[in-house]
Amino acid sequence: MDDLTAIAEMESREFSPLAYPYFVLRQLFDIHGALWVVADLAGAVGGYALVAAGQTQEAWLIGLAVSSSHQGRGLGRSLIEQAVASCTAADLDTLFLTVRPSNTSATNLYKASGFRGIGYDEKYFGVGEPRELLVRRLAPVASRPTNLRWDKNEFLPPGE
Ligand SMILES: CC(C)(COP(=O)(O)OP(=O)(O)OC[C@H]1O[C@@H](n2cnc3c(N)ncnc32)[C@H](O)[C@@H]1OP(=O)(O)O)[C@@H](O)C(=O)NCCC(=O)NCCS
Repeated sequence: MDDLTAIAEMESREFSPLAYPYFVLRQLFDIHGALWVVADLAGAVGGYALVAAGQTQEAWLIGLAVSSSHQGRGLGRSLIEQAVASCTAADLDTLFLTVRPSNTSATNLYKASGFRGIGYDEKYFGVGEPRELLVRRLAPVASRPTNLRWDKNEFLPPGE
């Protein structure tokens, strides 16, 4: 919650006029905030990855940015990996995202991070404003038990 103002400011700087306004971020945070990742640089927000979970085990990366003064140092790649980790921990198995084909740095980053193109909308952002649709299948958490039924005797505190 404390980072929402900084996230809204970075949104506005990077994505205006299509930036999420503060109140939209506030509402999204209530629903999906447990999956969000913020790069904390000595108390300042250096970047963020915003994820929204769908009704199945699918999720969307709906926002990603690194502050201009910290770009090119691996933060974007790290934010994606942390977002993927929070999705797998939440038992989600697929992560989609939208990117403008003209956004070379983001497209390179996503493809280097294991996303592949599965679709193209000619006028997603408006006439002459296409998007590429990318997806990454998420590996299951290695330590996740295959049998999720819990053993009462194993998990109850001693004596209960
Ligand atoms: C896209 C963005 C998040 C990348 O963050 P970053 O911290 O600079 O990226 P990283 O340093 O982790 O770079 C990882 C990879 O991304 C790609 N990349 C990053 N910057 C790039 C650039 N200027 N040109 C080409 N590729 C680039 C490269 O593949 C890079 O791997 P490499 O270093 O091995 O070559 C950042 O540039 C940004 O915030 N841009 C503005 C907002 C935006 O466009 N967000 C995405 C919306 S879909």
